[in-house]
Amino acid sequence: MSQENSKFMRVLRGEPLSIPPIWFMRQAGRYLPEYRAVREEAGGFLDLCYNPDKATRVTLQPIERFDLDAAILFADILLIPQALGMKLWFEQGEGPRLEPVLKDDMSAAGKLSGDDIHKTLSPVYETVSQVRAALPPEKALIGFAGAPWTVATYMLAGQGVKDPSALRMTAYQSPDKMAALIDLIASATAEYLIRQAQAGANAVMLFDSWAAGLPSALFHDLCVDPVRRIAAEVKAKTGIPVIGFPRGSGPAYSEVAKLKEIDAVSIDTGLPWDWAAENLSPHGAVQGGLDQLLLLEGGDALFSSADRLIDSFAGKPFIFNVGHGLIPQTPPEHVAALVKHIRER
Ligand code: CP3
Repeated sequence: MSQENSKFMRVLRGEPLSIPPIWFMRQAGRYLPEYRAVREEAGGFLDLCYNPDKATRVTLQPIERFDLDAAILFADILLIPQALGMKLWFEQGEGPRLEPVLKDDMSAAGKLSGDDIHKTLSPVYETVSQVRAALPPEKALIGFAGAPWTVATYMLAGQGVKDPSALRMTAYQSPDKMAALIDLIASATAEYLIRQAQAGANAVMLFDSWAAGLPSALFHDLCVDPVRRIAAEVKAKTGIPVIGFPRGSGPAYSEVAKLKEIDAVSIDTGLPWDWAAENLSPHGAVQGGLDQLLLLEGGDALFSSADRLIDSFAGKPFIFNVGHGLIPQTPPEHVAALVKHIRER
């Protein structure tokens, strides 16, 4: 079998399969004891991201444990701001921190540069090639990056914030500087994803985790257009499929799904499945939708929701996934039971 004929790649090209391919956002992570062991060995989270041998091991762990249809590169969306010249670290038990905090001084963004990103990011390309070499052809490898708006929210606030859409104030106060920042991130991201594809990624996904809450005009300028531009560059250079994830954007999901450069969209936990099947499926594959919290309890509630989700997309190209990432409290046995349930249905 060639890599192009894996179940995951067939669905991305628009073929419906009665048993959907399965993978999970944040499938490598703290809920797995074998991840915690490698993470401990590596030291910090960023040390793990930049260590190709260890990042390869954790990327492969969920494939080995659950026999999933796709692996996702182990890295983080915040490596791009670091490669652009920001200081990045993770506060124990809190989350990421970045400096300088751009919303307080947008002129500081002028000192960032995309000229040298591959110096920082080359270990990631090495991870991609090691993972691809280790995976059998029936398993796809997904590369990824953050979408520019979501990455910008962390750069603007210097950390994750409760209501990232409030940073739209900066877009009103400094529209030119905001456009330049989004542009800088978009160019670097396109180059980054092209290198991932050249190293062996079969498809790439753009995580726009904070796309919710933007008025239409800003959603278009900050989310849709930069994602379109990145996807166009990736496709022109490499031809691989691109998955969009404008999390929380509601009916505006169709604007991303409709883009000819986007092959699939990943749906969040709140988007109605029948609406998505009617309005998004005509434009390409749909992925995701299951509430990741159902995996905490497991059992019938989990299985019946998974069944309804799969049935909602019957006869349409669909990839099974959760609406957002698996959380650290997820019992791995529930993930295994869900995969078995879907494959034996
Ligand atoms: O999905 C996967 O298995 C691949 C790896 C992956 C990680 N982060 C690993 C990670 C991916 C695709 C991401 C994307 C990411 N990173 C997003 C977009 C998706 C989403 O969740 O909305 C965002 C917003 C980030 C930024 C980020 N990274 C935050 C806010 C945090 C801290 C929160 C937390 O869970 O601790 C991280 C850390 C992070 N990224 C971890 C993992 C496994 C936990 C690190 C650890 O302590 O081991």
